[in-house]
Amino acid sequence: MKRYLSAIKPTGRLTLGNYIGAIKQFVSLMNDGEMILFVADLHSLTLPIDPVELRNNSRNIVAYYLAAGLDPNKIRVFLQSEVHEHSELAIILQNYLYMGELARMTQFKDKTQKMNNEAIGLGIFTYPVLMAADIVLYDTDYVPVGEDQVQHVEITRDLVHRFNKRYGEILKMPRALIRQNGARIMSLSDPTKKMSKSDPKGDIFLDDDLKIINKKIMSAVTDLDTHVHYDEANKPGISNLMTIYSALTNKSITDIEEQFSGKMYGEFKKEVARVVTEEIAKLQARYQEIIQTGLVDKVLKEGKEYASEIAAKTLKRVQEAIGLYRYE
Ligand code: TYM
Repeated sequence: MKRYLSAIKPTGRLTLGNYIGAIKQFVSLMNDGEMILFVADLHSLTLPIDPVELRNNSRNIVAYYLAAGLDPNKIRVFLQSEVHEHSELAIILQNYLYMGELARMTQFKDKTQKMNNEAIGLGIFTYPVLMAADIVLYDTDYVPVGEDQVQHVEITRDLVHRFNKRYGEILKMPRALIRQNGARIMSLSDPTKKMSKSDPKGDIFLDDDLKIINKKIMSAVTDLDTHVHYDEANKPGISNLMTIYSALTNKSITDIEEQFSGKMYGEFKKEVARVVTEEIAKLQARYQEIIQTGLVDKVLKEGKEYASEIAAKTLKRVQEAIGLYRYE
């Protein structure tokens, strides 16, 4: 059976980008193999975060996983910090990734370019090491993610290759899995930039008021043309709205072009807003139900036990392979 593994870091409110690029993908793969998900709370410490916010965000992510339709009887969910093997394996694996390659990672460059070197925490630099540990701990086959995380999976693959060349077939080679349409949802106010939790302008948050969502979509930045046509380079705003619409309705881009041929942008935006608010309204209603029960804690507790068992075995295998002494 194939094993899927993925995570979201609890650094802020979840966005429509997280939902389409990641969560909806998890839902569609849930019946196709084993799905292990976690909340990457250790990764959220790489930039300053308020403790109360971190705790709330962590709980919310699990509630949104379940609200989106991930079945707690089929999937496993846990908190990264509760399975100590992630940290232990990262300490070992940091010796197999190099400063040069870590410094070239897009995320590291993006997040630190405006910072003073003296104030950049080590964690943001070694972020890919911990993420590699997350992935290989579970002998993961596939890592369903949005496009921005592919580079992290690629560096994990480099690490696995390097490690196995030295010690034999110890780590499983993972593969990133991105959706064809919706792996990169862009900001509504600047469609050349990715929609992200840390950039509230032009983002749709899953807990936004529906009226606000409607307003954000109706005022999304587009071009001066009037033709609903997909062209990422010249019409990034309209193309982004088409991607969102396509991801939520499962209609192909060609079908959407046909559906709106001869229609104005306003009409198209109204329809996008209708579909997005309808989906988010359902999500919010289920979220409210779930957050009032003890389900989140129950699922996390079971998930932790399940994950710990697998993680302990992999860590032991690695420790033995590299020669750490173990007495009986
Ligand atoms: P994070 O928390 O930034 O994002 C969570 C998931 O959402 C996807 N995503 C998007 N997809 C499409 N369009 C967007 N605008 C958009 N914004 C975010 C991300 O690609 C991601 O799939 N490093 C990871 C968390 C992590 C992880 C892991 C993932 C830690 N360990 C192990 C997989 C496996 C992160 O920061 O995701």
